[in-house]
Order: sequence, then C-alpha cells, then structure tokens
Amino acid sequence: MKTAIVYYSMHHGNTKKIVDAISKKADVTLIDAAKYSEYDLCCFDRIGFASGIYFQKFSEKVIDFLEQNLPDSKEIFYLYTYGIKRKSYLDAIEEAAKKKHAIVIGAFGCRGFDTFGPFKWIGGIAKGRPDQKDVENAVCFFEEITK
Ligand SMILES: Cc1cc2nc3c(=O)[nH]c(=O)nc-3n(C[C@H](O)[C@H](O)[C@H](O)COP(=O)(O)O)c2cc1C
Repeated sequence: MKTAIVYYSMHHGNTKKIVDAISKKADVTLIDAAKYSEYDLCCFDRIGFASGIYFQKFSEKVIDFLEQNLPDSKEIFYLYTYGIKRKSYLDAIEEAAKKKHAIVIGAFGCRGFDTFGPFKWIGGIAKGRPDQKDVENAVCFFEEITK
C-alpha cells in the first residue's frame, strides 16, 4: 500500500515535525503543498493532508491541492496542529473531500507553538508543542490507520 502526505507548515514547522516523524518510521512520500500545486496521486492508495490551522481551517494551499489533485474515492486522513483546540477546524477540508467521495480513515490533531497576532506579545502559546508525546501519538495514530 502506497501512502503520500501532502503538507503545509509555514508558521514554526510544527506540522512538519509530525510529518517528518511519521516519514522516519514508515515509507511515505512527502509532498510540500508550498512547492507543488499539481501532482499525480493516482498511484497512492491513501493520502494524508497535513497543515497548521490558519484562520480556523487547513491552509488554502492544502485545500486547493486536494481540489486540484485528489482522484475520486481515495482513502484519506488528516494531520493538523493548532494553537487552541476547536472542533470546527476540519470543516472546510471535509467539505472539499466530500466532493471527491473521499473515504476518511482518521484524523490526528495536537497543539503547536503559536506566536500569531497578540500571542507574540506574551511569547506565544503552546510552547514546546508538538512535544515528544505528541510526536509519539501521531506515529501511533499513523500505525493504527495503516495496519
Ligand atoms: C496566520 C495564522 C493564523 C492562525 N490561526 C489559528 C487559528 O485560527 N486557530 C488556532 O488554533 N491556531 C491558529 N494559528 C496557530 C497555528 O495553527 C499553530 O501555531 C500551528 O501549529 C502552526 O503550524 P505550522 O508551524 O506547521 O505552520 C494561526 C497561526 C498563523 C500564523
């Protein structure tokens, strides 16, 4: 089974930390959505979409990438990091995925160091996150959904 992870991680590399840990343990192809807007995903059995949360949702680059490149009826999963936990962060990407009849096999989110806006005046929130435990949890999540 071939797996790709499409990621975008522009703030502090928080999401990249998670994605890199997974790619060290498993055979995955990493695709940087900042570099590629077109990519042939046909040969992958499952595709992960990974992003920091920016303005309440996944990066537009990741959502656009999904809209442009995801073939119909693929297995997909989500990885994301955020400053403050909320339930709605997946809404926009889920809507795009539904149009592709994607089969969602899981989602993993954790906190990530956040110095956006007023948080920079207090030295940021979620300092040190994702931490070792977050990374281990992400790897466990990946192993669970791909076994
Ligand atoms: C422009 C911008 C907007 C953000 N908006 C949110 C938000 O709406 N909710 C939230 O919890 N965190 C928000 N954050 C914090 C990021 O989601 C968090 O720091 C994340 O771990 C960044 O991931 P990255 O380092 O992979 O880019 C925002 C950060 C930036 C830079």
